[in-house]
Amino acid sequence: MKVLLVGNGGREHALAGKLLESQKVRQIICVPGNSGTASMERCQNLPLRIDDFEGIGRFALVHNTSMVVVGPELPLALGITDYLKRQNIKVFGPNKEGAQIEASKSWAKSLMQEAGMPTAYAEVFTDATTAKAYVASQKAPIVVKADGLAAGKGVTVAATVEEAQAAIDDLFNNKCPLVVIEEYLTGEEVSVLALTDGLTIRPLLPAQDHKRIGEGDTGANTGGMGAYAPAPIATPALMERITQEILEPAIAALQKRGIDYRGVLYAGLMITPDGEPKVLEFNCRFGDPETQAILPLLETPLEDLLLACTQQRLAEQPPISWKQGVAACVVIAADGYPGDYQKGQVITGIEKAEELGATVFHAGTQMKNKQLVTDGGRVLAVTAIGENFEQALTQAYAAVDCIKFEGMYYRRDIGDRVRKQV
Ligand code: AMP
Ligand code: GLY
Repeated sequence: MKVLLVGNGGREHALAGKLLESQKVRQIICVPGNSGTASMERCQNLPLRIDDFEGIGRFALVHNTSMVVVGPELPLALGITDYLKRQNIKVFGPNKEGAQIEASKSWAKSLMQEAGMPTAYAEVFTDATTAKAYVASQKAPIVVKADGLAAGKGVTVAATVEEAQAAIDDLFNNKCPLVVIEEYLTGEEVSVLALTDGLTIRPLLPAQDHKRIGEGDTGANTGGMGAYAPAPIATPALMERITQEILEPAIAALQKRGIDYRGVLYAGLMITPDGEPKVLEFNCRFGDPETQAILPLLETPLEDLLLACTQQRLAEQPPISWKQGVAACVVIAADGYPGDYQKGQVITGIEKAEELGATVFHAGTQMKNKQLVTDGGRVLAVTAIGENFEQALTQAYAAVDCIKFEGMYYRRDIGDRVRKQV
C-alpha cells in the first residue's frame, strides 16, 4: 500500500509512524511533511503546498497511491476531497460540505440543533449592534465565536459583558460575517475522536487536551499543549452515551443533509458537573496533540481502519483493539507561542529522550545546515506509555528534560488531574 499523507504537524508524524508499523504500508509520501517524517524509512516528503490539489492529485495518480489521508482542516474545508474523488482517488477526510462541521460554527450549531444533541444554547448574529445588545441582555461569562476557521483563535470566553462586546467589535471589524454567541458551560473537557465511513461510526479512546498556554489552564488558547489518553472522565458508560446521543445522531444528521462523511469526526465535549456530555465543537480531522497520545495505544492496523472508511466498509471491521496502559504527551513550544516566536534555534537531545523509551514527534522543526532547528510555534510532542498516568507522565517528562533549545517552553502540569489515578 502507498499512502499520501497531507500535513506537516506532530499529528502527521504520529499518523505516518503508526501506518509504517505495518509492513503492508510500503511507502508514505508526506505533503509537505516535516523533518520527523523525512527521517523515517519508507517515508519521504514531497514539497507541495497542502492546497495544491492539482499537484497532489497528479502525484497520487502517477504513483498509483492507494489512499490520500488528509491531516489538517484547511484543505478539507477548501474541498480537497471533492477534487481528488472526482479523479477516483480514495480519500480519508470529509468533502467540503462535511468539513463545514468545523469550518462554520453556525452551520455546526444548526446541525446539532437539528439532531437534538446536547450543546450550549447559541444565537447567530450578522451585525455588531444586535450582537452587543443581545450580550447586554445576558449574564457573563458568555462565549463569543467567529463563524469560520480561525486557527484556534476564534473563541473568546468573556468574563464580563464588556469583554464580550469588545470581542464582537473585534470580529466584525475584521470582516467576520457571522458571530455565534453561546451560553457558557462549566465542567471538564474531553476530546472524542471517531472514525466514520458515513454510515458507521467507531469512537477511538477518549483524550484530554490542555488548550491554554499557562499552567493551571491559564493564559491564551493554543492548538494544544499536551494530552493524555484514555481520559478517565469518559468512562465506558459515558462513551456509550456519547456514541448514542452525539456521534450517531451527528452521522444521521449529516446523512439527512445528503453528506457522505468519511474521515474523523472529532467531538470536543464538556462534561458538566452533573455528568452530562455537551458538544462544544466538532472538528473534521484528527486532533493535535490528541493523536500523539491516542495512536501509540492503537493495536488494530491503522491502514485497515482508514481504508475501510474510504470504502464504506467500517461495519465489517473487527472491534478496534488497544494496548493496555495509558499514554501521555507533552508539547514543547517556542517561547512566545501562541504569539510571536523565534525560529531557527538548534535542538539537541532527541536521541537521548528516545533512549528513555519515549517517542518524540516533530511538529515545527527543520533541518538546516545538517542541524535540527525550530521552525514553528509548537516544536515537538513527546509521548510515553505507562501502566498508569504516574508512570507515563514521569517518563514523558524525563524525556522532555533531555531535550534542549533556546527559549524552549512547556507546561509542567500536563496530566496533573489524573496523575494519581490508576
Ligand atoms: P472551540 O474551538 O469551540 O472548542 O472553543 C475553544 C475552547 O473555548 C474550548 O476548548 C473551550 O475551552 C472554550 N469554550 C468553547 N465554547 C465554550 C462554552 N460554550 N462554554 C465554555 N467554554 C467554551
Ligand atoms: N487539540 C485541539 C485540536 O486539534 O483542535
